[in-house]
Amino acid sequence: MFVKSVNAAALAAIFIPPKDLDVNSPSSIRSVASTIAHGLMSYYSGNVTNTPETIAVFPQPHFWWQAGAAWGAMLDYSHYTGDSSYDEVIKQALVSQVGPNFDLMNPLHFGSEGNDDQAFWGFSILEAAERNFPQPDDNIPPWLDIAINTFNTMAPRWDETACGGGLAWQIFESNPNGMNYKNSVSNGGFFQLSARLARATGNATYYEWAKKVWDWSEKVGFIDPKTFIVYDGADRRDNCAELNRLSFSYSHGIYLYGAAVLYNYTEGDKVWADRTNNLLKGADLYFSPFDNSTNVMFEQACEPYGTCNNDMKSFKGYLSRFMWATTRMMPSTLGRVEELLKPSAAAAARACSGGAKGTECGQKWYVGGFDGVVGLGQQMTALETVQGLLSQRAPPPFKAGEIKHVKG
Ligand SMILES: *[C@@H]1O[C@H](CO)[C@@H](O)[C@H](O)[C@H]1NC(C)=O
Ligand SMILES: *[C@@H]1O[C@H](CO)[C@@H](O)[C@H](O)[C@H]1NC(C)=O
Ligand SMILES: *[C@@H]1O[C@H](CO)[C@@H](O)[C@H](O)[C@H]1NC(C)=O
Ligand SMILES: *[C@@H]1O[C@H](CO)[C@@H](O)[C@H](O)[C@H]1NC(C)=O
Repeated sequence: MFVKSVNAAALAAIFIPPKDLDVNSPSSIRSVASTIAHGLMSYYSGNVTNTPETIAVFPQPHFWWQAGAAWGAMLDYSHYTGDSSYDEVIKQALVSQVGPNFDLMNPLHFGSEGNDDQAFWGFSILEAAERNFPQPDDNIPPWLDIAINTFNTMAPRWDETACGGGLAWQIFESNPNGMNYKNSVSNGGFFQLSARLARATGNATYYEWAKKVWDWSEKVGFIDPKTFIVYDGADRRDNCAELNRLSFSYSHGIYLYGAAVLYNYTEGDKVWADRTNNLLKGADLYFSPFDNSTNVMFEQACEPYGTCNNDMKSFKGYLSRFMWATTRMMPSTLGRVEELLKPSAAAAARACSGGAKGTECGQKWYVGGFDGVVGLGQQMTALETVQGLLSQRAPPPFKAGEIKHVKG
């Protein structure tokens, strides 16, 4: 039986160097996840002075969205390992960004808030809701209401004046580049939020929206009908005629999990089963870069060329997160997901052998060890891949009726 609140001291007592991870041993996985999570949190000092500018965010050059994603990784950590030692810090961070209207629109960070950024924070708020994570205090609504409010800001941004629909990347004209670009991460984000809200509330309005966003994503060509590879986006100025065919692991994971949630919500609809299975096949693009690294995940658009930026260095973490999560919504995917993610977790853990203590995580897992490129994103990718090995032992996300919608 899954025991909540494994204490941190007990974890520390059985320290296992990440590179020695045994992917089949829960205690080994917990110990290694604890070390990597500690490394992740060492990038965070935003709570020390309790000023609004620093709470929840990681120092530059990390953008606001990545902080939202990092708290999602830490929520997964708490849930999968049962180690609640960071719960207060996580809760403080999440609550600090809800904004005056409780919809993840925080004026302090408007300068870097696009639809995709808001969606990443939305994923974390939904994780809190779906796990009955301790609710916000005082005058702040329950997690689920914040997620609903977030949806209610996004739906009116749906734009049918070009490309037949879709959300633009950006929300504000003042943010560069993005009002003309319709991208898969923003639309996939809206799709997944809608899918999860359908399951979390039982309200069919969200299912209708999820179907609409999926259908448009297919029609515009973001999801390749033959290979099930997800492309990055297209420009409204040519009515999305020309696709930007770059592909990143995170958009792939986002659509995959949304489809799996709808499979679960519809109690096994074949259409969603096929879409989930197809996207899982499409995910092969992100594995096995060389003969010497079978089933090891990599960011194929940039890692082999050494061109990943800070954001991209965290992307693999979301594909891992959402592949593990998919196994709980559609159990028949577990075999294939384990085939891919067990070797990836072992390789990720071997990459966490840098720094003075030999526990800092590098970027490329296919090199067989530490590649010298450390960072927050590297801690996040390794953490999600390793801790997900425990996903079958923790409760699946709660659905409508199981989610506490009241405080206390
Ligand atoms: C800040 O967060 C760290 C975890 O990274 C925690 O150990 C510490 O107690 C927190 N400090 C405050 C003032 O909340
Ligand atoms: C279902 O969700 C939509 C969108 O948030 C909302 O407008 C509607 O009131 C909800 N319906 C019910 C019965 O809660
Ligand atoms: C939906 O998810 C639950 C929880 O993991 C699982 O028990 C159930 O089998 C899933 N439903 C289908 C149709 O696979
Ligand atoms: C596998 O081959 C690639 C390309 O030659 C190389 O960069 C990488 O370091 C190798 N990995 C291992 C584990 O030997």
